[in-house]
Amino acid sequence: MNDTEMQNIKRELQPILAEYANVKGALIPILQHAQAKFGYLSEEVMEAIADELKMSPSDIYGVATFYAQFRFTPVGKNVIKICQGTACHVGGSESLAAMLEQKLGIKNGETTKDGLFSIQEVACLGCCSLAPVCMINGTTYAKLTSDKLSKILDQYIEADKKGEAV
Ligand code: FES
Repeated sequence: MNDTEMQNIKRELQPILAEYANVKGALIPILQHAQAKFGYLSEEVMEAIADELKMSPSDIYGVATFYAQFRFTPVGKNVIKICQGTACHVGGSESLAAMLEQKLGIKNGETTKDGLFSIQEVACLGCCSLAPVCMINGTTYAKLTSDKLSKILDQYIEADKKGEAV
């Protein structure tokens, strides 16, 4: 990364860092805000935060990797939130997750190489009576089976080929 890119990242981080300037132990909220802004925590973003907080990048990385909420790769065009709450678990969400992993070749927290899908396992999505459910880009899909979810993914793949939205 060149100096200009680093300066740009630091400029974008400035309002976040300013908000927590005199707050002790503010690294986690700073990382949360940075992730919300950039979509994920890139090496460059962690380096810039480290520089501003006078910490080492490896310390920042060490803290960030401790928490499941942080992502270190960009999220895909379609974010699949697969519910692993109790009702969905009882309803078979594990086999849905296994199908996703097999069909897309990625695990929870990862993004496909083509950037089309990311998988995020989440706790209860708040519609347990419709279990098992998953949410793709904010749309909830209910009472899923592996087959049903696989066909839904095919719709997203097809839509992408045609340059349309699902
Ligand atoms: S457990 Fe999945 S929606 Fe509540």
